[in-house]
Amino acid sequence: MSKALTANFSEKLIAWHARSGRSGLPWQGNRDPYAVWVSEIMLQQTQVATVLERYPRFMKRFPTVKKLASADIDEVLAEWAGLGYYSRARNLHACAQQVMTEFAGQFPSDPILLEQLKGIGRSTAGAIAAFAFHERAPILDANVKRILARLFAVEGVIQEKAVNDRLWSLANDLLPTKAKDMPVYTQALMDFGATWCTSRKPVCLSDEKKCPFEKECQASRSNQVLDLPQKTIKAKSPEFDCDMLLIRSGNSILLQKRPSKAIWGGLWSLPETPWVAKSATRKNLPNLKDLIQAALPDERPSAWGRVYKVVNQGPQIKHVFTHRRLWMQIWEVSASRSLELENPNLRWAPLSQLGRYGLPQPIKILLQGLSLARGDDLKN
Ligand code: ADE
Repeated sequence: MSKALTANFSEKLIAWHARSGRSGLPWQGNRDPYAVWVSEIMLQQTQVATVLERYPRFMKRFPTVKKLASADIDEVLAEWAGLGYYSRARNLHACAQQVMTEFAGQFPSDPILLEQLKGIGRSTAGAIAAFAFHERAPILDANVKRILARLFAVEGVIQEKAVNDRLWSLANDLLPTKAKDMPVYTQALMDFGATWCTSRKPVCLSDEKKCPFEKECQASRSNQVLDLPQKTIKAKSPEFDCDMLLIRSGNSILLQKRPSKAIWGGLWSLPETPWVAKSATRKNLPNLKDLIQAALPDERPSAWGRVYKVVNQGPQIKHVFTHRRLWMQIWEVSASRSLELENPNLRWAPLSQLGRYGLPQPIKILLQGLSLARGDDLKN
């Protein structure tokens, strides 16, 4: 490794942060490990602008690890609604309970112990240890991998173990020597990757700003900045179709709680038919009895046959998940009365109380678009 680069990397990066890093964010400067942990989990897959709005709300609702651990998972999911990647909310809840039972309500400071908690990976463990406990623990998220792969011209696909191990080792070698510098250094690394050493428009390729590492950066010297880190070629994610039933009875609609391991696990959604590989042609108006049977297999079709009345073809909504794309065809059904339900995961939800349910974002938007729910009803 380049001695010159490692020797003063952290000092230069901290100096860069003072000039150009992000400051004044509500989770910065806070050494409460609970607050740090919540912010790091929320920031993992959510834009800073959204976290700025949602983080204070979450902390107000669940101000301590004890409050979060004793909350009902449905409350946590409802508070998380709209942020996506709901396994984060389920893991937050499970992790809070782990901290209460296994660590007497105190987060451990050792990154190895933090990593054993639900939903905390090695890099997040390093970030929490650095921000809350000033531990000299490295982080290595996608942004940091990019910075290091470029600075040291690390070749090879970053998913490969040998490449990943090398990057962790570099991340460790570059840490500041003084523990008190860990929070600002860690934040600086995150900010530098997110705003300057970006994937497609790194500042070294524009004339507007001068990268503090331009001279030492091996990728820059060899004109490989956009080629590093090497990425695997992603296959296009598969597409699926399903039908969703928007069954309305008076001022209630039928909601179904999704299984916890499924996509949108634990959220309340519309009853849906099993997903099938997307086909070019879809039936215009399927047989409603078949639809109800496919979407609500535990309910008695003969009873349903007597109460549903009309069906309108609603919108078709496309939703892109990380690894798949789903086309949801909505069918609007009107029921003459609210049938008793066999399955405990089904519920007639009054429109005025939809805010109490954690709904997937596209379903929330659909209901607002159909004027079934006002924005206010969906606030919690
Ligand atoms: N992404 C993950 N952690 C972050 C942080 N502390 N600041 C900005 N973006 C982040």
